[in-house]
Amino acid sequence: MIVTKDIINQTNTVEFILEDQIQKKQQTIPLKNFFQGTFLESFYLPQENSAVLYIGCGKEKELTLLGVKEIFAQIAKQCKEYHIAACGIDFSIFLKKFGEKAIIQAVLGLSLGNYTYCYLKKEDTFECQYEIGGLSSINFAKEYIKEALDLAKSIQFARDMVNTPGNHLRPMDFNRAIKEYVEDIPVEVETLVYGQLKAMGMEGLYGIGGSSEYPPCLMILRYQGNPKDPEIYGLIGKGVTCDTGGYCLKSAKSMAGIKGDMAGAAAVVGAIHAIAMQKLPINVVACLPLCENRISQSSHLPGDVIKSYQGKTIEILNTDAEGRLILADAMSYGIRNEGITKVLDIATLTGAVWSALGFTIAGAMSNDDSFYQTFEQGLSFAQETYLRFPYHKEHEKMIKSNVADIKNIGADCCGAITAGLFIKEFCEDLPWIHLDIAGTAWSDTPQYAFDDKGATGAGVTAIYYMLKQAANIVP
Ligand code: BES
Ligand code: ZN
Ligand code: ZN
Repeated sequence: MIVTKDIINQTNTVEFILEDQIQKKQQTIPLKNFFQGTFLESFYLPQENSAVLYIGCGKEKELTLLGVKEIFAQIAKQCKEYHIAACGIDFSIFLKKFGEKAIIQAVLGLSLGNYTYCYLKKEDTFECQYEIGGLSSINFAKEYIKEALDLAKSIQFARDMVNTPGNHLRPMDFNRAIKEYVEDIPVEVETLVYGQLKAMGMEGLYGIGGSSEYPPCLMILRYQGNPKDPEIYGLIGKGVTCDTGGYCLKSAKSMAGIKGDMAGAAAVVGAIHAIAMQKLPINVVACLPLCENRISQSSHLPGDVIKSYQGKTIEILNTDAEGRLILADAMSYGIRNEGITKVLDIATLTGAVWSALGFTIAGAMSNDDSFYQTFEQGLSFAQETYLRFPYHKEHEKMIKSNVADIKNIGADCCGAITAGLFIKEFCEDLPWIHLDIAGTAWSDTPQYAFDDKGATGAGVTAIYYMLKQAANIVP
Protein backbone atom coordinates (compact mmCIF):
# COMPACT_ATOMS: atom_id res chain seq x y z
CA MET A 1 0.00 0.00 0.00
CA ILE A 2 1.20 3.48 -0.82
CA VAL A 3 0.09 6.67 0.93
CA THR A 4 1.28 10.21 0.50
CA LYS A 5 2.12 12.23 3.60
CA ASP A 6 3.23 15.76 4.42
CA ILE A 7 5.09 14.49 7.43
CA ILE A 8 6.32 10.91 7.56
CA ASN A 9 5.13 9.17 10.73
CA GLN A 10 6.99 5.91 10.32
CA THR A 11 9.91 4.98 12.51
CA ASN A 12 11.39 2.82 9.75
CA THR A 13 12.79 4.98 7.00
CA VAL A 14 14.71 4.73 3.77
CA GLU A 15 17.80 6.84 3.32
CA PHE A 16 19.03 7.44 -0.21
CA ILE A 17 22.77 7.78 -0.57
CA LEU A 18 24.47 9.17 -3.65
CA GLU A 19 27.90 7.73 -4.33
CA ASP A 20 29.33 11.22 -4.79
CA GLN A 21 28.17 12.27 -1.33
CA ILE A 22 29.28 9.27 0.64
CA GLN A 23 32.22 11.02 2.25
CA LYS A 24 30.05 13.85 3.53
CA LYS A 25 27.51 11.33 4.78
CA GLN A 26 30.06 9.17 6.52
CA GLN A 27 30.37 11.78 9.23
CA THR A 28 26.71 11.36 10.14
CA ILE A 29 25.94 7.75 9.34
CA PRO A 30 27.71 4.86 10.98
CA LEU A 31 28.46 2.95 7.78
CA LYS A 32 32.07 3.76 7.07
CA ASN A 33 33.52 0.90 5.13
CA PHE A 34 30.33 -1.11 4.76
CA PHE A 35 28.53 1.00 2.26
CA GLN A 36 29.69 3.04 -0.71
CA GLY A 37 26.40 4.28 -2.13
CA THR A 38 26.86 2.48 -5.45
CA PHE A 39 23.75 1.98 -7.55
CA LEU A 40 21.29 -0.46 -5.88
CA GLU A 41 23.64 -1.23 -3.00
CA SER A 42 21.63 -1.67 0.18
CA PHE A 43 22.26 -1.82 3.89
CA TYR A 44 19.69 -2.55 6.58
CA LEU A 45 20.42 -1.03 9.95
CA PRO A 46 18.00 -1.95 12.73
CA GLN A 47 17.97 0.30 15.75
CA GLU A 48 16.15 -0.01 19.04
CA ASN A 49 12.59 0.74 17.94
CA SER A 50 13.19 1.57 14.33
CA ALA A 51 15.32 0.77 11.33
CA VAL A 52 17.02 2.56 8.49
CA LEU A 53 17.31 1.06 5.05
CA TYR A 54 20.19 2.66 3.17
CA ILE A 55 19.88 2.49 -0.61
CA GLY A 56 22.72 3.44 -2.93
CA CYS A 57 21.73 5.66 -5.83
CA GLY A 58 25.07 5.74 -7.65
CA LYS A 59 26.52 8.94 -9.10
CA GLU A 60 24.05 11.80 -9.30
CA LYS A 61 25.00 12.56 -12.92
CA GLU A 62 24.21 8.99 -13.97
CA LEU A 63 20.82 8.73 -12.28
CA THR A 64 17.97 8.21 -14.77
CA LEU A 65 14.22 7.64 -14.50
CA LEU A 66 14.84 3.98 -15.26
CA GLY A 67 17.24 4.08 -12.31
CA VAL A 68 14.49 5.49 -10.07
CA LYS A 69 12.29 2.53 -11.01
CA GLU A 70 15.12 0.16 -10.13
CA ILE A 71 15.93 1.92 -6.84
CA PHE A 72 12.31 1.63 -5.69
CA ALA A 73 12.14 -2.00 -6.81
CA GLN A 74 15.20 -2.57 -4.65
CA ILE A 75 13.41 -0.94 -1.68
CA ALA A 76 10.46 -3.34 -2.19
CA LYS A 77 12.80 -6.33 -2.32
CA GLN A 78 14.63 -5.29 0.84
CA CYS A 79 11.40 -4.55 2.73
CA LYS A 80 10.25 -8.04 1.82
CA GLU A 81 13.52 -9.62 2.86
CA TYR A 82 13.61 -7.89 6.25
CA HIS A 83 9.86 -8.03 6.78
CA ILE A 84 9.54 -4.29 7.15
CA ALA A 85 5.78 -3.82 7.38
CA ALA A 86 5.75 -0.05 7.15
CA CYS A 87 8.30 2.53 6.14
CA GLY A 88 8.61 6.19 5.30
CA ILE A 89 10.30 7.42 2.15
CA ASP A 90 11.35 11.01 1.53
CA PHE A 91 10.99 11.60 -2.21
CA SER A 92 12.54 15.07 -2.37
CA ILE A 93 15.87 14.16 -4.02
CA PHE A 94 14.05 12.60 -6.98
CA LEU A 95 11.50 15.38 -7.10
CA LYS A 96 14.31 17.92 -7.40
CA LYS A 97 16.03 16.07 -10.23
CA PHE A 98 13.10 14.71 -12.27
CA GLY A 99 9.95 16.54 -11.17
CA GLU A 100 6.66 15.15 -9.90
CA LYS A 101 6.35 12.54 -12.69
CA ALA A 102 9.18 10.50 -11.21
CA ILE A 103 6.64 9.24 -8.67
CA ILE A 104 5.20 7.04 -11.46
CA GLN A 105 8.53 5.22 -11.84
CA ALA A 106 8.87 4.95 -8.07
CA VAL A 107 5.44 3.36 -7.64
CA LEU A 108 6.00 1.03 -10.60
CA GLY A 109 9.29 0.01 -8.99
CA LEU A 110 7.67 -0.64 -5.59
CA SER A 111 4.85 -2.69 -7.16
CA LEU A 112 6.90 -4.69 -9.65
CA GLY A 113 9.90 -5.24 -7.35
CA ASN A 114 7.54 -7.09 -5.04
CA TYR A 115 6.13 -9.31 -7.82
CA THR A 116 6.54 -13.07 -7.77
CA TYR A 117 4.44 -15.60 -9.62
CA CYS A 118 2.71 -17.59 -6.91
CA TYR A 119 -0.35 -19.11 -8.53
CA LEU A 120 0.81 -22.68 -8.13
CA LYS A 121 2.93 -22.54 -5.02
CA LYS A 122 2.26 -21.47 -1.51
CA GLU A 123 4.12 -18.32 -0.77
CA ASP A 124 3.50 -15.66 1.85
CA THR A 125 2.19 -12.59 0.21
CA PHE A 126 4.01 -9.72 1.78
CA GLU A 127 2.96 -6.13 1.58
CA CYS A 128 4.66 -3.16 3.09
CA GLN A 129 2.91 0.13 3.71
CA TYR A 130 4.94 2.94 2.19
CA GLU A 131 4.47 6.52 3.31
CA ILE A 132 5.87 8.84 0.69
CA GLY A 133 6.67 12.39 1.73
CA GLY A 134 8.58 15.32 0.30
CA LEU A 135 6.13 15.77 -2.59
CA SER A 136 5.31 19.29 -3.76
CA SER A 137 1.65 18.64 -4.58
CA ILE A 138 -0.13 15.73 -2.95
CA ASN A 139 -3.09 15.98 -5.35
CA PHE A 140 -0.93 15.63 -8.43
CA ALA A 141 0.98 12.84 -6.81
CA LYS A 142 -2.25 10.98 -6.05
CA GLU A 143 -3.20 10.98 -9.74
CA TYR A 144 0.24 9.77 -10.76
CA ILE A 145 0.17 7.08 -8.09
CA LYS A 146 -3.23 5.85 -9.31
CA GLU A 147 -1.91 5.72 -12.88
CA ALA A 148 1.19 3.82 -11.83
CA LEU A 149 -0.84 1.35 -9.75
CA ASP A 150 -3.23 0.75 -12.69
CA LEU A 151 -0.25 0.13 -14.94
CA ALA A 152 1.46 -2.10 -12.40
CA LYS A 153 -1.68 -4.25 -12.05
CA SER A 154 -1.87 -4.54 -15.83
CA ILE A 155 1.77 -5.60 -16.06
CA GLN A 156 1.27 -8.09 -13.23
CA PHE A 157 -1.65 -9.64 -15.09
CA ALA A 158 0.44 -9.98 -18.26
CA ARG A 159 3.26 -11.55 -16.21
CA ASP A 160 0.87 -13.94 -14.45
CA MET A 161 -0.56 -15.16 -17.74
CA VAL A 162 2.85 -15.64 -19.36
CA ASN A 163 4.21 -17.42 -16.27
CA THR A 164 1.27 -19.83 -16.09
CA PRO A 165 2.21 -23.33 -17.30
CA GLY A 166 0.67 -24.40 -20.60
CA ASN A 167 -1.34 -27.22 -19.01
CA HIS A 168 -3.07 -24.65 -16.80
CA LEU A 169 -3.66 -22.18 -19.61
CA ARG A 170 -5.23 -23.74 -22.69
CA PRO A 171 -6.66 -21.25 -25.19
CA MET A 172 -10.13 -21.35 -23.59
CA ASP A 173 -8.62 -21.01 -20.09
CA PHE A 174 -6.82 -17.91 -21.27
CA ASN A 175 -10.08 -16.69 -22.79
CA ARG A 176 -11.84 -17.14 -19.43
CA ALA A 177 -9.05 -15.44 -17.49
CA ILE A 178 -9.20 -12.42 -19.80
CA LYS A 179 -13.00 -12.22 -19.51
CA GLU A 180 -12.80 -12.26 -15.73
CA TYR A 181 -10.02 -9.71 -15.73
CA VAL A 182 -12.01 -7.10 -17.67
CA GLU A 183 -15.38 -7.96 -16.13
CA ASP A 184 -15.74 -4.79 -14.06
CA ILE A 185 -14.26 -2.29 -16.48
CA PRO A 186 -15.85 -0.76 -19.60
CA VAL A 187 -14.41 -3.28 -22.05
CA GLU A 188 -16.79 -5.33 -24.20
CA VAL A 189 -15.78 -8.90 -24.96
CA GLU A 190 -16.78 -11.22 -27.79
CA THR A 191 -15.41 -14.67 -28.58
CA LEU A 192 -15.51 -16.47 -31.93
CA VAL A 193 -15.14 -20.20 -31.36
CA TYR A 194 -13.64 -22.88 -33.60
CA GLY A 195 -16.80 -23.58 -35.65
CA GLN A 196 -17.26 -19.89 -36.36
CA LEU A 197 -13.62 -19.43 -37.38
CA LYS A 198 -13.99 -22.35 -39.77
CA ALA A 199 -17.26 -21.09 -41.22
CA MET A 200 -15.68 -17.67 -41.79
CA GLY A 201 -12.69 -19.15 -43.59
CA MET A 202 -9.94 -18.17 -41.18
CA GLU A 203 -7.71 -21.03 -42.17
CA GLY A 204 -4.64 -19.40 -40.63
CA LEU A 205 -6.20 -19.46 -37.17
CA TYR A 206 -8.42 -22.55 -37.29
CA GLY A 207 -5.74 -24.43 -39.21
CA ILE A 208 -3.07 -23.87 -36.55
CA GLY A 209 -5.54 -24.12 -33.66
CA GLY A 210 -7.11 -27.27 -35.11
CA SER A 211 -3.80 -29.06 -34.52
CA SER A 212 -4.76 -29.43 -30.87
CA GLU A 213 -7.66 -31.02 -29.03
CA TYR A 214 -7.83 -27.78 -27.02
CA PRO A 215 -9.69 -25.57 -29.46
CA PRO A 216 -8.67 -22.10 -30.63
CA CYS A 217 -10.73 -18.92 -30.51
CA LEU A 218 -10.58 -15.30 -31.58
CA MET A 219 -11.26 -12.81 -28.80
CA ILE A 220 -12.39 -9.30 -29.54
CA LEU A 221 -12.12 -6.64 -26.81
CA ARG A 222 -13.64 -3.22 -27.42
CA TYR A 223 -13.03 -0.05 -25.46
CA GLN A 224 -14.82 3.09 -26.61
CA GLY A 225 -13.35 6.05 -24.81
CA ASN A 226 -14.25 8.64 -27.45
CA PRO A 227 -17.34 7.61 -29.47
CA LYS A 228 -17.26 10.78 -31.61
CA ASP A 229 -13.75 10.08 -32.85
CA PRO A 230 -13.66 8.01 -36.08
CA GLU A 231 -10.18 6.73 -35.22
CA ILE A 232 -10.08 3.14 -33.92
CA TYR A 233 -6.76 1.69 -32.81
CA GLY A 234 -6.45 -2.02 -33.49
CA LEU A 235 -4.22 -4.10 -31.21
CA ILE A 236 -3.46 -7.59 -32.47
CA GLY A 237 -1.65 -9.87 -29.99
CA LYS A 238 -0.25 -13.33 -30.59
CA GLY A 239 -1.80 -15.78 -28.14
CA VAL A 240 -0.16 -19.17 -28.73
CA THR A 241 -0.53 -20.81 -25.32
CA CYS A 242 1.94 -23.52 -26.32
CA ASP A 243 4.13 -23.61 -29.44
CA THR A 244 5.69 -27.01 -30.05
CA GLY A 245 6.58 -26.01 -33.60
CA GLY A 246 4.18 -28.56 -35.09
CA TYR A 247 5.72 -31.06 -37.56
CA CYS A 248 8.77 -28.77 -37.77
CA LEU A 249 9.15 -29.74 -34.14
CA LYS A 250 11.26 -27.57 -31.88
CA SER A 251 14.37 -29.07 -30.28
CA ALA A 252 14.14 -30.03 -26.60
CA LYS A 253 16.22 -26.98 -25.70
CA SER A 254 14.09 -24.49 -27.56
CA MET A 255 10.91 -25.94 -26.03
CA ALA A 256 11.84 -24.24 -22.74
CA GLY A 257 9.80 -21.09 -23.21
CA ILE A 258 6.93 -22.36 -25.32
CA LYS A 259 4.27 -21.56 -22.73
CA GLY A 260 5.17 -17.88 -23.04
CA ASP A 261 4.23 -17.63 -26.70
CA MET A 262 1.08 -15.74 -25.74
CA ALA A 263 2.95 -12.74 -24.32
CA GLY A 264 1.74 -10.49 -27.16
CA ALA A 265 -1.91 -11.17 -26.34
CA ALA A 266 -1.18 -10.74 -22.62
CA ALA A 267 0.48 -7.37 -23.30
CA VAL A 268 -2.55 -6.20 -25.29
CA VAL A 269 -4.94 -7.18 -22.48
CA GLY A 270 -2.72 -5.39 -19.96
CA ALA A 271 -2.62 -2.25 -22.11
CA ILE A 272 -6.37 -2.12 -22.76
CA HIS A 273 -6.99 -2.70 -19.05
CA ALA A 274 -4.73 0.23 -18.11
CA ILE A 275 -6.37 2.43 -20.76
CA ALA A 276 -9.86 1.62 -19.51
CA MET A 277 -8.84 2.11 -15.86
CA GLN A 278 -7.50 5.54 -16.78
CA LYS A 279 -10.57 6.27 -18.93
CA LEU A 280 -8.44 7.54 -21.81
CA PRO A 281 -10.51 9.30 -24.52
CA ILE A 282 -9.58 6.93 -27.32
CA ASN A 283 -11.16 3.97 -29.13
CA VAL A 284 -9.39 0.63 -29.06
CA VAL A 285 -10.28 -2.79 -30.43
CA ALA A 286 -8.11 -5.75 -29.52
CA CYS A 287 -8.17 -8.91 -31.64
CA LEU A 288 -6.53 -11.86 -29.94
CA PRO A 289 -6.05 -15.15 -31.76
CA LEU A 290 -5.65 -17.80 -29.04
CA CYS A 291 -4.53 -21.32 -29.93
CA GLU A 292 -1.96 -24.08 -29.51
CA ASN A 293 0.50 -25.26 -32.17
CA ARG A 294 0.81 -29.05 -31.95
CA ILE A 295 1.26 -32.24 -33.91
CA SER A 296 -1.86 -34.14 -34.93
CA GLN A 297 -3.60 -35.61 -37.96
CA SER A 298 -4.93 -32.20 -38.91
CA SER A 299 -1.72 -30.20 -38.39
CA HIS A 300 -0.29 -28.36 -41.37
CA LEU A 301 2.57 -30.02 -43.19
CA PRO A 302 5.43 -28.21 -44.91
CA GLY A 303 4.35 -27.65 -48.50
CA ASP A 304 0.65 -27.19 -47.66
CA VAL A 305 -1.14 -24.16 -49.05
CA ILE A 306 -3.91 -22.51 -47.05
CA LYS A 307 -6.22 -19.57 -47.69
CA SER A 308 -6.22 -16.66 -45.26
CA TYR A 309 -9.38 -14.86 -44.15
CA GLN A 310 -8.36 -11.90 -46.30
CA GLY A 311 -8.15 -14.16 -49.36
CA LYS A 312 -4.40 -14.39 -49.97
CA THR A 313 -3.08 -17.94 -50.28
CA ILE A 314 -0.12 -18.93 -48.11
CA GLU A 315 2.43 -21.65 -48.71
CA ILE A 316 3.50 -23.16 -45.41
CA LEU A 317 7.16 -24.08 -45.53
CA ASN A 318 7.77 -24.17 -41.80
CA THR A 319 5.03 -25.12 -39.35
CA ASP A 320 6.90 -23.35 -36.54
CA ALA A 321 6.29 -20.00 -38.24
CA GLU A 322 2.68 -20.13 -36.98
CA GLY A 323 2.39 -16.76 -35.27
CA ARG A 324 2.24 -14.77 -38.50
CA LEU A 325 -0.63 -16.93 -39.82
CA ILE A 326 -2.89 -16.35 -36.84
CA LEU A 327 -1.95 -12.67 -36.60
CA ALA A 328 -2.77 -12.20 -40.28
CA ASP A 329 -6.30 -13.56 -39.83
CA ALA A 330 -6.92 -11.61 -36.62
CA MET A 331 -5.69 -8.40 -38.27
CA SER A 332 -7.92 -8.91 -41.31
CA TYR A 333 -10.87 -9.55 -39.02
CA GLY A 334 -10.22 -6.31 -37.13
CA ILE A 335 -9.89 -4.27 -40.32
CA ARG A 336 -12.88 -5.78 -42.11
CA ASN A 337 -15.34 -6.19 -39.27
CA GLU A 338 -14.34 -3.76 -36.57
CA GLY A 339 -13.43 -0.68 -38.61
CA ILE A 340 -9.87 -0.43 -37.31
CA THR A 341 -8.13 2.64 -38.78
CA LYS A 342 -4.59 2.18 -37.40
CA VAL A 343 -3.13 -1.15 -36.43
CA LEU A 344 -0.41 -2.44 -34.12
CA ASP A 345 0.56 -6.09 -33.75
CA ILE A 346 2.69 -7.51 -30.96
CA ALA A 347 4.12 -11.00 -30.74
CA THR A 348 6.87 -13.27 -29.54
CA LEU A 349 7.44 -13.87 -33.21
CA THR A 350 11.03 -14.78 -34.02
CA GLY A 351 14.16 -16.23 -32.51
CA ALA A 352 15.91 -13.92 -34.98
CA VAL A 353 14.97 -10.79 -33.05
CA TRP A 354 16.48 -12.28 -29.91
CA SER A 355 19.69 -13.15 -31.80
CA ALA A 356 19.91 -9.60 -33.14
CA LEU A 357 18.96 -7.57 -30.08
CA GLY A 358 18.99 -9.74 -26.95
CA PHE A 359 16.83 -9.42 -23.82
CA THR A 360 16.47 -5.68 -23.37
CA ILE A 361 15.73 -4.33 -26.84
CA ALA A 362 12.73 -5.49 -28.86
CA GLY A 363 12.27 -5.21 -32.62
CA ALA A 364 9.82 -2.89 -34.33
CA MET A 365 8.71 -2.15 -37.89
CA SER A 366 6.31 0.34 -39.38
CA ASN A 367 5.02 1.58 -42.73
CA ASP A 368 4.12 5.01 -41.36
CA ASP A 369 6.60 7.52 -39.92
CA SER A 370 4.00 9.64 -38.19
CA PHE A 371 2.31 6.69 -36.46
CA TYR A 372 5.72 5.38 -35.42
CA GLN A 373 6.60 8.80 -34.05
CA THR A 374 3.57 8.62 -31.76
CA PHE A 375 4.86 5.26 -30.54
CA GLU A 376 8.35 6.65 -29.99
CA GLN A 377 7.08 9.68 -28.09
CA GLY A 378 5.17 7.32 -25.81
CA LEU A 379 8.31 5.25 -25.34
CA SER A 380 10.11 8.11 -23.66
CA PHE A 381 7.76 7.54 -20.68
CA ALA A 382 7.60 3.77 -20.95
CA GLN A 383 11.15 2.74 -20.06
CA GLU A 384 11.05 0.05 -22.76
CA THR A 385 13.44 -0.02 -25.71
CA TYR A 386 12.57 -0.87 -29.31
CA LEU A 387 14.68 -0.70 -32.44
CA ARG A 388 12.90 0.02 -35.72
CA PHE A 389 14.11 -2.27 -38.49
CA PRO A 390 14.30 -0.97 -42.04
CA TYR A 391 13.05 -2.90 -45.05
CA HIS A 392 13.46 -2.76 -48.79
CA LYS A 393 11.56 -4.17 -51.78
CA GLU A 394 14.23 -6.89 -51.84
CA HIS A 395 13.08 -8.06 -48.39
CA GLU A 396 9.49 -8.14 -49.59
CA LYS A 397 10.50 -10.37 -52.49
CA MET A 398 11.88 -12.92 -50.03
CA ILE A 399 8.38 -14.06 -49.04
CA LYS A 400 7.00 -14.43 -52.59
CA SER A 401 5.98 -18.03 -53.34
CA ASN A 402 5.90 -20.04 -56.57
CA VAL A 403 2.68 -21.82 -55.69
CA ALA A 404 0.77 -19.28 -53.56
CA ASP A 405 0.55 -15.52 -53.02
CA ILE A 406 3.13 -15.63 -50.22
CA LYS A 407 5.07 -18.13 -48.15
CA ASN A 408 5.47 -18.21 -44.39
CA ILE A 409 9.27 -18.05 -44.24
CA GLY A 410 11.88 -15.97 -46.02
CA ALA A 411 15.53 -16.67 -46.78
CA ASP A 412 18.08 -17.84 -44.21
CA CYS A 413 18.78 -14.26 -43.20
CA CYS A 414 16.88 -11.31 -41.64
CA GLY A 415 14.14 -13.51 -40.18
CA ALA A 416 12.77 -10.76 -37.95
CA ILE A 417 12.26 -8.47 -40.95
CA THR A 418 10.61 -11.03 -43.24
CA ALA A 419 8.29 -12.12 -40.39
CA GLY A 420 7.18 -8.51 -39.96
CA LEU A 421 6.74 -8.06 -43.69
CA PHE A 422 4.53 -11.14 -43.83
CA ILE A 423 2.15 -9.44 -41.38
CA LYS A 424 2.37 -6.15 -43.27
CA GLU A 425 0.83 -7.99 -46.26
CA PHE A 426 -2.41 -8.04 -44.26
CA CYS A 427 -2.57 -4.44 -42.99
CA GLU A 428 -4.38 -3.24 -46.13
CA ASP A 429 -2.18 -0.14 -46.27
CA LEU A 430 -3.37 1.21 -42.94
CA PRO A 431 -0.76 2.85 -40.71
CA TRP A 432 0.89 -0.18 -39.12
CA ILE A 433 3.36 -0.88 -36.31
CA HIS A 434 4.79 -4.31 -35.60
CA LEU A 435 6.49 -5.22 -32.30
CA ASP A 436 8.50 -8.42 -31.93
CA ILE A 437 9.01 -9.09 -28.20
CA ALA A 438 10.43 -12.64 -28.50
CA GLY A 439 13.64 -11.51 -26.73
CA THR A 440 12.18 -9.17 -24.10
CA ALA A 441 9.00 -10.94 -22.93
CA TRP A 442 10.87 -13.49 -20.88
CA SER A 443 14.07 -13.42 -18.89
CA ASP A 444 15.80 -16.30 -17.14
CA THR A 445 18.34 -13.84 -15.85
CA PRO A 446 16.43 -10.71 -14.79
CA GLN A 447 18.06 -7.62 -16.27
CA TYR A 448 16.51 -5.00 -13.99
CA ALA A 449 15.65 -4.86 -10.29
CA PHE A 450 11.94 -4.55 -11.19
CA ASP A 451 12.01 -7.81 -13.15
CA ASP A 452 11.59 -11.25 -11.64
CA LYS A 453 12.80 -14.48 -13.24
CA GLY A 454 10.32 -15.32 -16.01
CA ALA A 455 7.79 -13.03 -17.63
CA THR A 456 8.59 -9.32 -17.83
CA GLY A 457 5.26 -7.86 -18.97
CA ALA A 458 6.97 -6.39 -22.06
CA GLY A 459 4.76 -4.25 -24.27
CA VAL A 460 2.08 -3.23 -21.75
CA THR A 461 3.66 0.11 -20.88
CA ALA A 462 4.84 0.85 -24.42
CA ILE A 463 1.35 0.37 -25.88
CA TYR A 464 -0.33 2.22 -23.01
CA TYR A 465 1.82 5.32 -23.49
CA MET A 466 1.51 5.19 -27.27
CA LEU A 467 -2.26 5.36 -26.92
CA LYS A 468 -2.01 8.05 -24.28
CA GLN A 469 0.13 10.02 -26.70
CA ALA A 470 -2.38 9.35 -29.50
CA ALA A 471 -5.14 10.65 -27.23
CA ASN A 472 -3.09 13.86 -27.01
CA ILE A 473 -2.57 13.57 -23.31
CA VAL A 474 0.98 14.44 -22.48
CA PRO A 475 1.95 12.27 -19.55
N1 BES B 1 7.32 -18.43 -30.96
C1 BES B 1 8.39 -18.62 -31.85
C2 BES B 1 9.46 -17.54 -31.73
C3 BES B 1 10.24 -17.54 -30.45
C4 BES B 1 11.48 -18.13 -30.42
C5 BES B 1 9.77 -16.90 -29.33
C6 BES B 1 12.21 -18.11 -29.23
C7 BES B 1 10.49 -16.89 -28.16
C8 BES B 1 11.71 -17.49 -28.10
C9 BES B 1 7.89 -18.65 -33.29
O1 BES B 1 6.64 -19.20 -33.47
C10 BES B 1 8.89 -19.44 -34.08
O2 BES B 1 9.04 -20.58 -33.79
N2 BES B 1 9.52 -18.80 -35.03
C11 BES B 1 10.49 -19.44 -35.85
C12 BES B 1 10.33 -18.91 -37.27
C13 BES B 1 11.16 -19.62 -38.28
C14 BES B 1 10.69 -21.04 -38.41
C15 BES B 1 11.03 -18.89 -39.59
C16 BES B 1 11.88 -19.09 -35.32
O3 BES B 1 12.11 -17.94 -34.94
O4 BES B 1 12.71 -19.97 -35.26
ZN1 ZN C 1 6.64 -21.29 -33.74
ZN1 ZN D 1 5.34 -19.13 -31.82
